[in-house]
Amino acid sequence: MEYRRLGNSGLKLSALSLGSWVTFSFQVDGSAAENLMALAYEQGVNFFDNAEVYADGESERLMGQALRKLGWGRDTYCVSSKAYWGGDRPTQRGLHRKHLTDACHAALQRLQVDYLDLFFCHRPDLETPIEETVRTMHDLVAQGKVLYWGTSEWSAQQIQEAYGLARQHGLTPPTMEQPQYNMLHRDKVEREFLPLYANLGLGTTTWSPLASGVLTGKYRDGIPEDSRMAVPEYGWLREEFESEEGRAQVRKAADLEGVAKELGISQAQLAVAWCLKNPHVSTVILGASKPGQLSENLAALEKLPLLTDEVMKKIEKVLDNRPELPTQF
Ligand SMILES: NC(=O)c1ccc[n+]([C@@H]2O[C@H](COP(=O)([O-])OP(=O)(O)OC[C@H]3O[C@@H](n4cnc5c(N)ncnc54)[C@H](OP(=O)(O)O)[C@@H]3O)[C@@H](O)[C@H]2O)c1
Repeated sequence: MEYRRLGNSGLKLSALSLGSWVTFSFQVDGSAAENLMALAYEQGVNFFDNAEVYADGESERLMGQALRKLGWGRDTYCVSSKAYWGGDRPTQRGLHRKHLTDACHAALQRLQVDYLDLFFCHRPDLETPIEETVRTMHDLVAQGKVLYWGTSEWSAQQIQEAYGLARQHGLTPPTMEQPQYNMLHRDKVEREFLPLYANLGLGTTTWSPLASGVLTGKYRDGIPEDSRMAVPEYGWLREEFESEEGRAQVRKAADLEGVAKELGISQAQLAVAWCLKNPHVSTVILGASKPGQLSENLAALEKLPLLTDEVMKKIEKVLDNRPELPTQF
């Protein structure tokens, strides 16, 4: 395993980590979740990602039970939660002091840990002043309940504002952002956040390296019964998948098959290794509903040297979606 610093912080996360979105609870029960986590940990994974909204808290409960059973030293792994969607009532959602505090306490209970290593604001909240969010996160850090706080799917401008407010008032600034990043979704990580890596030392814990499985090529002939697109609770994902744009993505994934074949690796490994190639990525969060998938994806790290400049150019030609950079970069 390779370990990368989480931005400018001293924390080193495994370059590949494991998340539980969709899988834990809907596709994977308690013992299967435990097996996946054990497999990851044995391969050097030290970061496990979660959120209050995943399966309405059940995903964190399963992860907490697995952590308890596995009995790893608390100083050998990191675990996260994210707050924003905690319920339907106004007090249960958003990034105000009330919900962030309740969400943190509830996640600690479900995950059965004394502190969260990473705690994210799962989306921006336009109805809460950023200063209120920053002050609350700082307080949770000061209380020892959270070690590093960050954002997910915030704009560069919002992150910059949070950082500036923290510095101005002597509070703890955000350390990391959790954006989507894969061959089909590049703009934020490759263009928008560029000044933040240099100026703020922002770390990134990136999500959906396989675009929910599309980049494995598995959807070329339709939707396999045991796949994410067939999970009834995620009908919205299937709708996106069946849209014009979704169909175009499946075609693009098919076009990458030749590159993977030439290298003698799977399409999943090609897609994960491609994310790892970006030095601004602190950790690529993997998802897996089966142990075989996880082993295959973890092996992507060994395949990284195969992605030479020449191969990257070939991939770029197929993708044809490189974000345009301003001239100073
Ligand atoms: N912050 C956010 O807003 C946000 C949003 C989304 C995700 N995340 C985080 O990022 C993590 C990873 O996201 P993700 O699960 O969407 O990642 P992903 O890698 O894009 O998709 C993972 C899914 O693809 C399929 N798959 C994986 N490896 C495969 C292989 N080798 N062959 C065939 N199919 C394979 C599996 O689904 P099936 O077997 O069901 O097909 C698996 O569950 C999440 O668990 C979560 O922690 C965060």
